[in-house]
Amino acid sequence: MSPPKDLCFYLILMLSAFTGAANGYYESRWTSCYHSSSDLSDMVFVDRYIFNKDVFIEFNSTVGEYVGYTAHGVYNAELWNKDTIGLQQMRAEVERYCKHNAENHQSAIADKTVPPQVKLSSVKQAGGRHPAVLMCSAYHFYPHWIQVTWMKDGQPVKADVTSTEELPNGDWYYQIHSHLEYTPKSGEKISCVVDHAGLTKPIIIDWDPSLPESERNKIAKIAIGASGLVLGIIIAAAGLIYYKKKSSGRILVPS
Ligand SMILES: *[C@@H]1O[C@H](CO)[C@@H](O)[C@H](O)[C@H]1NC(C)=O
Repeated sequence: MSPPKDLCFYLILMLSAFTGAANGYYESRWTSCYHSSSDLSDMVFVDRYIFNKDVFIEFNSTVGEYVGYTAHGVYNAELWNKDTIGLQQMRAEVERYCKHNAENHQSAIADKTVPPQVKLSSVKQAGGRHPAVLMCSAYHFYPHWIQVTWMKDGQPVKADVTSTEELPNGDWYYQIHSHLEYTPKSGEKISCVVDHAGLTKPIIIDWDPSLPESERNKIAKIAIGASGLVLGIIIAAAGLIYYKKKSSGRILVPS
């Protein structure tokens, strides 16, 4: 996944609430920029005037002029569309406002993504309905938006999946852990799929059931421990022989 599909920058320019009546009134103006390609070529500028959630007048840069949606909106749209200088300024907002800000945001935010490192492991069962539990962990990613999903034989798995939130490490990076409870069947293929803004395509890790992770780790640890022990014994023996030779030599040589 490349930068977020819809970067929308909005600015509330005008906010006024009149609390004369029981429910009050709410008027706002939302200025938005939409784009989905990172080269900003498909940028659209939209300026909406809203009263109590109803858009009554809107400028959309693709349309190029104001459009009214209520009697009052239509009246104003006609009026504002006659103002050629004002309209030219609005049409220039795609470049002046949207692209300018999007470039800044892209270099300040979107370009700073760090893709996750993903690990798939089997974990101890804590009394669930199925005998086996897999844990898919994503580490050290930024920003926190991430998608961790499971596939069984190419089909998405929704049931028996639980996940933590995106947990902040406190150093701007996040981690997340998703669990899948399942009943192992021979020949099935289980995969964890992770998608993140820092990735050009999702990371897919297939579960290799031939050896459970804990066993693999145990074997690796035993191997490392054993070779360390052997190496230690060799060095100790060599040292001992060297020391014996040296000390016996010293005694033998007359001073
Ligand atoms: C802007 O106008 C175009 C053309 O009518 C439309 O396809 C698009 O959805 C509009 N954009 C927004 C954000 O309303």
